Amino acid sequence: MATTAPASGPFQIPAHVPPELVRKLGITESPEFLANPHKFMAELHNTCPPIVYSYGDHSPAAWNLLKYEDAYFVLRHPEFFTTEGTGPFPRDPNDYWKIIPLEIEPPEHRKYRAIIDPLVSPKTVVAMETSIRAFANELIDGFIGKGECEFAKEFGRPLPVCVFLDIMGLPRDMMDEFVRWAMGLLHAQDRQIAGQVMAEVTAYLGTVIQEKRANPDDGVVSAIVHGRPGGQEMSAKETFGFVFFLFIAGLDTVFATLNNIFVWLAENPERRQEIIDTPDNINNVVEELLRVFTVTFSGRTVRDDIEFRGIQMKKGDRITSILPSCNYDPDVFPNPTEVNFHRPRKPVLTFAGGAHSCLGAHLARLEVRICIQEFLRRIPNFTIKPGAKIEYWPGGVVGPKDVPLAW
Ligand code: HEM
Repeated sequence: MATTAPASGPFQIPAHVPPELVRKLGITESPEFLANPHKFMAELHNTCPPIVYSYGDHSPAAWNLLKYEDAYFVLRHPEFFTTEGTGPFPRDPNDYWKIIPLEIEPPEHRKYRAIIDPLVSPKTVVAMETSIRAFANELIDGFIGKGECEFAKEFGRPLPVCVFLDIMGLPRDMMDEFVRWAMGLLHAQDRQIAGQVMAEVTAYLGTVIQEKRANPDDGVVSAIVHGRPGGQEMSAKETFGFVFFLFIAGLDTVFATLNNIFVWLAENPERRQEIIDTPDNINNVVEELLRVFTVTFSGRTVRDDIEFRGIQMKKGDRITSILPSCNYDPDVFPNPTEVNFHRPRKPVLTFAGGAHSCLGAHLARLEVRICIQEFLRRIPNFTIKPGAKIEYWPGGVVGPKDVPLAW
């Protein structure tokens, strides 16, 4: 159903947008979305045209793309649709710094990716398997005897943080601090708390950058600090924007993915058994769960006036690819809400695509695989703690707040 466009205010609808395409979808924030976010995003295919112009109470108006092929095109055509200025973090316009590598476009972009791509390549990541598995087991040792755990707090967050600290070349004893910072920055509904956390993160990363400058090592922070994109030294702001973005991109996304998957595993005992009984199919299991539980979105800005799929878009219009909906596109994934571990392979858009496709995708896949394997090996039967209600965070990364499990 089309919505009446607001007549004025920050969400004023531009004149070139046809009124019949205006919606207030409520993605990331409405009670209907938060009641069951993935179901909500799957159902948009039945209730909406493939491209709508949506605005929200807390998010700027943008063209929302629901179809796989449309997002696929936009992500692969930076000459029409740019990432510049679209980073998921507001910055002071008087002291602006770019989120790197996301807000740098090809061909410059490649020079920045080249600095860290080798540190997260499939080969490098595979070498981390033993230590990730050992840490997963250490965490499980800590709660298996209790017969219950708060999965998000005791497993779903500490594991990715620890892996992240290892690749960044930062000490594991920063784990609690990083969990607090990641949660405070992305989920604090209080702006003052978010501001305070931002100040703490800025101060810490500043110190770390200085330390790595003086004492290089083989971690990602050191690679960035000593990296020379195209042979040029990076400015202090660029170095900060690069290290900071990894922190934003590499933590909450993995937390949310694991937490969503484990709610589903707890609620689907037969499917859990299927995973246990078919260990050789684990890579398809991971890929299908990443499709069904896609946690984030991708923003672009229209470079110049363009007609796209018959719609007139204007320079400066924002576009959001609703990646979870794209991964439920029935034209690409028939019977899309069915979790089918034998689906014909088709690249999922969970990690977006094109030049900016996720730098941490190999690592994230490995983490998800190890978590499923080790948890199901040690605790094959579990449920959501009786009486518990799963609630979801509002915001740009879709995942449950708590995942209380019992066995
Ligand atoms: C399941 C976990 C993850 C998901 C779902 C995810 C999702 C995404 C998506 C959708 C993008 C593309 C954004 C865009 O084009 O607008 C992206 C980019 C990126 N991700 Fe991830 N991510 C995950 C894990 C990670 C991890 C573990 C790291 C770091 C270790 C990471 C680092 C990055 C970086 C640096 C980019 C920007 C790449 C570029 O601009 O070239 N991500 N991620």
